[in-house]
Amino acid sequence: MADRALPSGRNQQQSRRERILALGDVSFYRSGMQEAEFVPLPPRFDPGCAPEESARAFFECMKSRRSVRMFSDKPVSRATIEWIIRAAGSAPSGANKQPWRFVCVSDAATKNKIRAAAEREEREFYERRATKRWLDDLAPLGTDDVKEYLDIAPWVIVVFKLAKEDDGAQVYYASESVGLATGFLLAAAHHAGLVTLTHTPSPMGFLAGLLGRGAHERPYMVIPVGFPAPDCTVPKEALRRKPLDAIMTVHEEQ
Ligand SMILES: Cc1cc2nc3c(=O)[nH]c(=O)nc-3n(C[C@H](O)[C@H](O)[C@H](O)COP(=O)(O)O)c2cc1C
Repeated sequence: MADRALPSGRNQQQSRRERILALGDVSFYRSGMQEAEFVPLPPRFDPGCAPEESARAFFECMKSRRSVRMFSDKPVSRATIEWIIRAAGSAPSGANKQPWRFVCVSDAATKNKIRAAAEREEREFYERRATKRWLDDLAPLGTDDVKEYLDIAPWVIVVFKLAKEDDGAQVYYASESVGLATGFLLAAAHHAGLVTLTHTPSPMGFLAGLLGRGAHERPYMVIPVGFPAPDCTVPKEALRRKPLDAIMTVHEEQ
């Protein structure tokens, strides 16, 4: 599409750069830091149909994702997990710092150590730490301190948020970035026909020591990945979704 309302010979990119310079952010370009370089937009995903149709098809796919707590021990290939992590790593991030690390565990002994430590924290949570209101909110989900899926699922992915880059460099909006990457991961696993659970044992500091991670790597989430058990059930409460008009507000041209 041609640039609109720009003098001939200038494009949106030049115009954006001029605007930044006009705003006085000259240091960005002149401070000796890396000069921005631009390439044509790489080939985009082509859904092969109109956006409305494709958006609906994606919704139909995503609405059947469920958090699963009853796993089968059916194996999942390492290559599958690698594709899922590549998808997670394609997420946007603050200043493109990609402040995430995905520790993928299939080794039975390590999974069992994670389970034992997670269950210790969960027992404390359910018996002492959780407020009554929190336990009341969890009740319809039927969760408890037993986490046998951490033994049974073929893979347990532990997501870490980097508080700094490995070389000590600054990161930005790390929580938001890792949340987005984790969302991509869940969508990729679902799209591969697998099930997941977003498990957050609290506190989960034990994971860094157990998995030998650096002090700048903060445990963020534990995600078992695999196939559901043949007799898998999910809480009915999880099917309840707020209607569109409760989550969407529109300001539209009249
Ligand atoms: C940030 C976050 C933390 C969660 N922590 C746990 C958890 O520790 N244990 C658990 O069984 N489910 C956990 N869940 C799963 C939620 O209970 C689940 O997403 C919710 O009930 C909706 O169900 P659905 O994922 O099937 O749509 C967590 C979900 C999120 C997003």
